[in-house]
Amino acid sequence: MVTQMKTLEDYKNAYKKSVENPEEFWAEQAGNFTWKQKWDKVLDWNFKEPNIKWFEGGKLNITENCLDRHLEERGDKTAILWVPNEPDADDRKFTYKELYTEVNKFANGLKKKGIKKGDRVIFYMPMIPELAIGMLACARIGAIHSIVFAGFSAQSLADRIIDAQAKMVICSDYNKRGAKNIPVKKVVDDALKMGCDSIDTVVVHKNTGGDIEWNDNIDLYLHDMLDGVEDFCEPEVMDAEDPLFILYTSGSTGKPKGVVHTTGGYMIYTAYTFKNVFQYQEKDIYWCTADIGWITGHSYIVYGPLLEGATTMMFEGVPTYPDAGRFWEIVEKYKVNQFYTAPTAIRALMAQGNEYVDKYDLSSLKVLGTVGEPINDEAWYWYYDVVGKRSKPIVDTWWQTETGGILISPLPCITDMRPTYASYPLPGVQPILVDPEGNLIEENGVEGLLCIKYPWPGMLRTTWGDHERCRQTYFSAFPDLYFTGDGARRDEDGRYRIIGRVDDVLNVSGHRIGTAEVENAINTAPGVVESAVVGYPHDIKGQGIYAFVITKGQVDDENAFKKQIIDMVRVEIGPIAKPDIIQLVPGLPKTRSGKIMRRILRKIASGDMSNVGDISTLLNPEVVEEIKKSAPTL
Ligand code: WT7
Repeated sequence: MVTQMKTLEDYKNAYKKSVENPEEFWAEQAGNFTWKQKWDKVLDWNFKEPNIKWFEGGKLNITENCLDRHLEERGDKTAILWVPNEPDADDRKFTYKELYTEVNKFANGLKKKGIKKGDRVIFYMPMIPELAIGMLACARIGAIHSIVFAGFSAQSLADRIIDAQAKMVICSDYNKRGAKNIPVKKVVDDALKMGCDSIDTVVVHKNTGGDIEWNDNIDLYLHDMLDGVEDFCEPEVMDAEDPLFILYTSGSTGKPKGVVHTTGGYMIYTAYTFKNVFQYQEKDIYWCTADIGWITGHSYIVYGPLLEGATTMMFEGVPTYPDAGRFWEIVEKYKVNQFYTAPTAIRALMAQGNEYVDKYDLSSLKVLGTVGEPINDEAWYWYYDVVGKRSKPIVDTWWQTETGGILISPLPCITDMRPTYASYPLPGVQPILVDPEGNLIEENGVEGLLCIKYPWPGMLRTTWGDHERCRQTYFSAFPDLYFTGDGARRDEDGRYRIIGRVDDVLNVSGHRIGTAEVENAINTAPGVVESAVVGYPHDIKGQGIYAFVITKGQVDDENAFKKQIIDMVRVEIGPIAKPDIIQLVPGLPKTRSGKIMRRILRKIASGDMSNVGDISTLLNPEVVEEIKKSAPTL
């Protein structure tokens, strides 16, 4: 088990050591795990190429650390506690022993179907234990899992399958989410019609038992795959730097890229941050409400908690089904100790009124976490006052898919908290602010671009199949720095407040969406000439999606036309990327070199019409007036 800091003194000492002697600091933590062979070198790095290697030469299997090593001490402790979508359906519990057996069997099933070390396996699943078991089964045999959030469209799924050249897709027949029953196998069938030649097998978990189409050549039921398999699978020996998983995420250009995380560093980092940020104690029940399709679910539902022998809860449903009290009903029923959710959920529940919270006994809670987007003052105080009864520390955790784990966060009851501030860097994390020219900003009480100047074990190593894209995206803006894409403010005492993305990436309900992706989807709709997408402030979602669209000639039925655009985005990306507002415009403000001036569009989208700034250098300044005139009043 990794070290748990307990006092401010501990934090200060750990931080100091992690900066003065990072290799010794992380080697000490690494020493708490089961290795089959010790590493040759703790760290080898440069941010130029980039080339980042932690614990190279070390041999291990992460599932031995998540499962095998707990068997003796906590074999009968609940590892995964699953709460179903329907409040009256039975929950499911897996002890560490049971989870161990399930993972071993699943691993043998994968092997039987020819999956081996290095192969890619895609999951397109609901929030059910089989998903966590399947991920761990991949890790057991060294296959690389890539989980695709089941809200993405067939096209998005196909893009990811093709990019990863995956051999297998694992899905369910249907997903239950709130009142919906979503035909996911159908989405996989559609994706496979889009040129996913690398796929040999589609493994289907019978979840609801609803009707599906069946293709004998490729489809296989999970229960058939597992029929008669042995219940022990020898863990594959992995190098610390062998890939563990690929997770696709959006950026400011092009299609989503596959962020690659490796085995050893990710293991140490997620365990260390989990144990410290949530101050997990042996008997605690920990609940993170994220979906495993996002990095939060990977690191803080599955890997971090299991590495530390925690009881981690997995919830199949949504916060508002059957009503807005669902989260709190679950907290009361299972006596949840650590609760981790997103600002968008907090804002949505806040809007429903306090009575949904006040009905339940939430006294088991010890730590309240938030992640995914900047939390506004009002939501922070509601979380603190109404949910936490002004007595529970809030950890506003800042991190990214690329960082693997939390980088900046308060430590509950150890460091102080300031509302809306992610506050101080965790040990091993060296954030800095630079100005747009890359000059280091040393003073406090200022804003700047957030960069990290030293590697940490959980960081991404590359982007799948395209290392240059990784360099370009994260390491080329400022030499020798990892650039986060976020702007931040640092207060007089050195606490960080994350302001939000400074690139063309939107954060809609905590989901990361590239404006370029949405524009590409809109541009394929019939009758569209060009489009520009920007974010605007949205009460619940944080940011809403605003699309300015130039049409081919006159549009007869504006509503039908807009619906076509929305449908196109749904098909190309998924419902999470649907524009909230579409404005048909005669032109888009452009510079003389043809670049769209998004700055102006952002102002208009946020209703700040009088403040669009200097437009004299535009190629077509007159268009700004026309867009302003026809903008809907929000
Ligand atoms: C972006 C990363 C990390 C898990 C979920 C999102 C924003 C994340 C915070 C926070 C303000 C935050 C940033 C970041 N973000 N956490 N506590 N306060 N902003 O992962 O999809 O990779 O998105 O989410 O803008 O760059 P992601």
